[in-house]
Amino acid sequence: MKQTYLTGITTTGTPHLGNYVGAVRPAIEASRDTDNTSFYFLADYHALIKCHDPALVSQSRLEIAATWLAMGLDTDRAYFYRQSDIPEIPELTWILTCMTAKGLMNRAHAYKAVVQENLDSGDSDPDKGITMGLYAYPILMAADILMFNASKVPVGKDQVQHLEMARDIAQRFNHHYGELFVLPEAVIEDDVAVLSGLDGRKMSKSYNNTIPLFVPEKKLRKLIMKIKTNSLEPGEPKDPENNTLMEIYSAYANEAQVAAMRQAYADGIAWGEAKQIVFEHLNAVLAEPRERYDALMAQPEKIEHVLQQGAARAREHCVPFMAQIRKAVGLS
Ligand code: TRP
Repeated sequence: MKQTYLTGITTTGTPHLGNYVGAVRPAIEASRDTDNTSFYFLADYHALIKCHDPALVSQSRLEIAATWLAMGLDTDRAYFYRQSDIPEIPELTWILTCMTAKGLMNRAHAYKAVVQENLDSGDSDPDKGITMGLYAYPILMAADILMFNASKVPVGKDQVQHLEMARDIAQRFNHHYGELFVLPEAVIEDDVAVLSGLDGRKMSKSYNNTIPLFVPEKKLRKLIMKIKTNSLEPGEPKDPENNTLMEIYSAYANEAQVAAMRQAYADGIAWGEAKQIVFEHLNAVLAEPRERYDALMAQPEKIEHVLQQGAARAREHCVPFMAQIRKAVGLS
């Protein structure tokens, strides 16, 4: 059966090595499968929940779009657009909001975590710092998904609850107004790599330990040299397991290259030398996409054009569907 895949990327940061292997690469590969339809979008309304710095949000939108394009997403096949270019999404969000139990939102992990932090820090207001945007975040996400009747939604484990909420909301709507929405399923990719960052913790913007995908050669070298290792001397055998450098290399190298590096570890390669190999490899792999990325970033109007086309194509689906939804709720 033909499946509709859909996923969103919150536009609050600069794409790094971990984002590529964990999300961008599998999504681009999946979009080449002609049996399926893929919708990939920049979740820039979601970005406003976490980030109130306009320069950062707009820079991140550009960088993320340029990354997907530079890495080879075929935007004639996949639908690639910005959430904020689809006015039907906030429209649907409101309609869904009116069918969403407040109690359901009370149970959202992301919201509860902030409440817990407030309680733990002895704050008198458990809702301190919580906007209605954060609270209603899962409803906007449900609208993203239901708008396109997506059946499969590739996400990280932290998003599984949001998918359950989207199903819940869709079911409630369908039950009351008629079967309009497909019930979406989360797709958790178990075999994609989760990379560690410079300090050995998970590579993440929030830990400030990332290696951006597209930095100039010199900077890339400098960052790789900074990856945390241990005090083993040259000549001493090194353990390739639970080793950040090896992990990053493995995510970007082929089997033979990884086998050779494991042997080099066993043979006691010096950390500096291993890092040099990793740098040279990454630099070679990223050279061409980096050129495309830099060219795109220098001509943001090209990116804009692609996104506008993507939004127009996406709206071919959502304009007629929205008319049906409006009719179902009595707003035709
Ligand atoms: N909330 C997702 C995240 O932070 C991003 C996102 C927004 C999303 N809308 C979506 C993912 C719809 C999948 C489907 O990762």
